[in-house]
Amino acid sequence: MGKKEAKRKDQFGSKFGIIAAAAGSAVGLGNIWKFPYITGNNGGAAFLIVYLFFIFLIGFPIMTSEFIIGRKTGRNVHGAFERLAPGKTWGKFGYLGIFAAFTILSFYCVVAGWSIEYLINSLSNSFWELTPQQYSDLFDSLVVSGIKPVIYLVIFMSLTALIVMAGVKDGIEKYAKILMPFLLLIIIILDIRAITLPGASKGLEFFFRPDFSKLNAHAVLEALGHAFFSLSLGMGVLITYGAYVGKKENLSTTALQVTIADTVIAILAGVAIFPAVFAFDLNPGAGPGLVYKTLPIVFQQMPAGHFFGFMFFLLLLIAALTSSISLLEVVVAYFVDELKMVRKNATIMAAALITILSILCSLSLGSVKINLFGLSFFDLLDKISSNFALPIGGFSIAIFAGWYLKRKSVKQELTNNNTLQVKWFGIFMFLVKWLAPFGIGVVFLYKLGLFNLFK
Ligand code: TRP
Repeated sequence: MGKKEAKRKDQFGSKFGIIAAAAGSAVGLGNIWKFPYITGNNGGAAFLIVYLFFIFLIGFPIMTSEFIIGRKTGRNVHGAFERLAPGKTWGKFGYLGIFAAFTILSFYCVVAGWSIEYLINSLSNSFWELTPQQYSDLFDSLVVSGIKPVIYLVIFMSLTALIVMAGVKDGIEKYAKILMPFLLLIIIILDIRAITLPGASKGLEFFFRPDFSKLNAHAVLEALGHAFFSLSLGMGVLITYGAYVGKKENLSTTALQVTIADTVIAILAGVAIFPAVFAFDLNPGAGPGLVYKTLPIVFQQMPAGHFFGFMFFLLLLIAALTSSISLLEVVVAYFVDELKMVRKNATIMAAALITILSILCSLSLGSVKINLFGLSFFDLLDKISSNFALPIGGFSIAIFAGWYLKRKSVKQELTNNNTLQVKWFGIFMFLVKWLAPFGIGVVFLYKLGLFNLFK
């Protein structure tokens, strides 16, 4: 191991800690808030099948590549590219990752802030006495209400910053190890409640029996885009975390475990939501409002629903928190490594800058009209990150690991200097070199509207 690949100070302390932290990043609003509603809109199980295909054939190899790049260099997303390709344009892709962390976190904090409001609401009896129309109005008015969501997003960002400030092992890892098992427990409790409701089987059928007639090109591309978002790929979160992984860990099995954990939790979220939605004859395709507008009606009607409602919003908050930690860490690691700041100052600066953007983002939904390219600032940040930054980032990571890095050096990192057997290395390289760039390229061009493959 040359000086170039020197170990860094910060490290995760245990295998479980690594998996909890990386799965904490992956399992987020994407799993609990977005996956159920896009599945609901795109034909249930048919969409799920396509999604699984992308998760394992494209997502998992990219995740492994990110871990490889991170651990090999022990650096943040910009520094990692810079070390492996000194003086080349590759370092710029690192900046793209940092930019994406800013944009994603800005709207992420807004949505996470809403979950704090709902968590507090769920403690009051009057919240549980509204009509369906009132739930819908409540959400719509919260979003545009100006100051309230801003307060919640600031609270959420402060929680995130406090954990990141405490460090990799004593902050990120420690909280992930507590929060992730708790998250799993909550979701299992909600699942048991949902599938024991009378009429639940219709929901399970919707989620698990494929209706291919609803599956169109848009759905297929949405599945790939979401596979990326859900696994936290394409912007260096897992490069950053990879830098904290010890040299003895098996990177590909870690990536596989994280991929499985993320997928299982998305499916468990669907199992908690759809049977309940169907049991009360509500619409599973309610879009982004599904968890905030439809689910309160579900919890209102189910036995002991107030308790389950509270648990659900707590779940949403925990899921969002462990993800936002990972996004903030991308920026903090860059400030610490490259600008030589101490962690505490780096965290305060990163959090403050992102909070400003996030406040603009929240206000743009209501009183303050910030419209660019015909989109609110909130939608703009969402679109920039998921339609541009993540696909370009993911594509670059695949090209970098598949084509730029020497095959031998990739193998060396993956097999811990040939001390581990990785039987499917050839398949892995094929996926990284060909399938991943091709798949991501198609989605990207489609989103740009340059061509329409399936029409
Ligand atoms: N994966 C998270 C979710 O599903 C969101 C997230 C965290 C993310 N870090 C990311 C998405 C990095 C893309 C890139 O909600």
